[in-house]
Amino acid sequence: MNLPKAHRYIIITDENLAELFGAKIKKEIETETGKQVDILTFPPGDASKSRAVKAKLETQMLALGCGRDTLIVTLGGGVAGDLGGFIAATYMRGIPYVQIPTTLLAMADSSIGGKTGVNTKEGKNLIGAIWHPEKVIRRLEFLDTLSDAQFKSGLFEIIKIFLSHDAKSFAYVEKNLDAILGRDKIMLQEILNQAIKLKTKIVEIDEREKGERKLLSFGHTIGHAIENEENYESEHGFAVAEGVLEESKISLERGHLSQEEFERIEALLLRLNIISQNRVYKNSPLDKKNEAGQEKIVLLKRIGEAFLTNK
Ligand SMILES: NC(=O)c1ccc[n+]([C@@H]2O[C@H](COP(=O)([O-])OP(=O)(O)OC[C@H]3O[C@@H](n4cnc5c(N)ncnc54)[C@H](O)[C@@H]3O)[C@@H](O)[C@H]2O)c1
Repeated sequence: MNLPKAHRYIIITDENLAELFGAKIKKEIETETGKQVDILTFPPGDASKSRAVKAKLETQMLALGCGRDTLIVTLGGGVAGDLGGFIAATYMRGIPYVQIPTTLLAMADSSIGGKTGVNTKEGKNLIGAIWHPEKVIRRLEFLDTLSDAQFKSGLFEIIKIFLSHDAKSFAYVEKNLDAILGRDKIMLQEILNQAIKLKTKIVEIDEREKGERKLLSFGHTIGHAIENEENYESEHGFAVAEGVLEESKISLERGHLSQEEFERIEALLLRLNIISQNRVYKNSPLDKKNEAGQEKIVLLKRIGEAFLTNK
C-alpha cells in the first residue's frame, strides 16, 4: 500500500465492509507498518453521514488516545470517504487520511477533489470541508462483491461525467454497455481512468466550485431534492439518474439539447434500468449552486457539454 508514515492507523468503515474486508486490510497495514491498527465502524448507508455519527467516531478516537500523528484510512464507498474524510479534516485541527474506495462511485468520483462532509435534515452535504486524501488506493477486485444496484449507481456517476464533459467516452459506454455491465475489467479500467482524468483536471482548475466544477453537478439539483424527499433511502446514483433525465428534458425544452441527443440519453438510462418514468419533483430550495439569491441549474448544450444557467 505504501501508506504515509504515522504513529498509529485508524480504519473507518461501515459494518458491511468491516465484515467483508476489514480483517484483511487491517492485517495488510499492520504487516506493512508494524504499527497499531484499529477499526471503527458505523452502520452502512447515507444516514450515517451525520453530525451524530461523526461525533461518536471522534469520541472513540479520543478514547483510544489518537493524537495528531494518527492516519485515518477510510475503507468503503462515498459515505466512508465523506464521513471519514471530514473527521480527518477537523480532528485535532486536521490529520492526514488515505482513501480505499470500494464502490465504483467512490473510485471514479468521490475520492477525487477533497469534498468531505455530512448531511443535515435541511439538506445533503451542507456541513463539510475540502480536505484532500494523501493517497487513494483503487483495487478493481473490490467491485466483485458490489450489488448490481450499487454497481449501476456508480457506473451512472461515470456516465454523468461523460455527459457533461466527454461526448466520445459517452459514445464508448453506449457501444460497450453490455460488456461493462458484465464487469469486464479492461473496459471498466478504461472508463475509470478516463473519468478520473476528467475529474482530476476539473478539480485542479476549480477546486472551490466557482465555475467548471459546478458543471459536474448536472442532475444533482433535482437528484438531491429526490434524495431528501425519500430520506436518503434510494441509491444516490438512481436519484441522480432521475435528476439527469429531468434536467435533460429541461435542456431540450429550452432549445439547447436536440431531440435526438435527449433520446440517446433516455435510451441509455432505460438500458441501465435505473429510471422510472413520469415522476415530478420539486427542486431543492437549499441547493448550494444558488448565487446572490438567484437559483442556478446545470443544463446540457449537447452531450459532452454542460453549462450553468438560471433556473
Ligand atoms: N465527495 C464527493 O465528491 C462525492 C461525490 C459523489 C458522491 N458522494 C457521496 O457518496 C455517497 C454515496 O456513495 P456510495 O454510493 O459509494 O455509497 P456507500 O458508501 O453507502 O456504499 C453503498 C453500499 O454498498 C456497500 N458496499 C460498498 N462497497 C462494497 C463492496 N465492494 N462490496 C459489497 N458491498 C459494498 C456499503 O456497505 C453500502 O451498504 C453519498 O453520500 C454522496 O453524497 C461524494
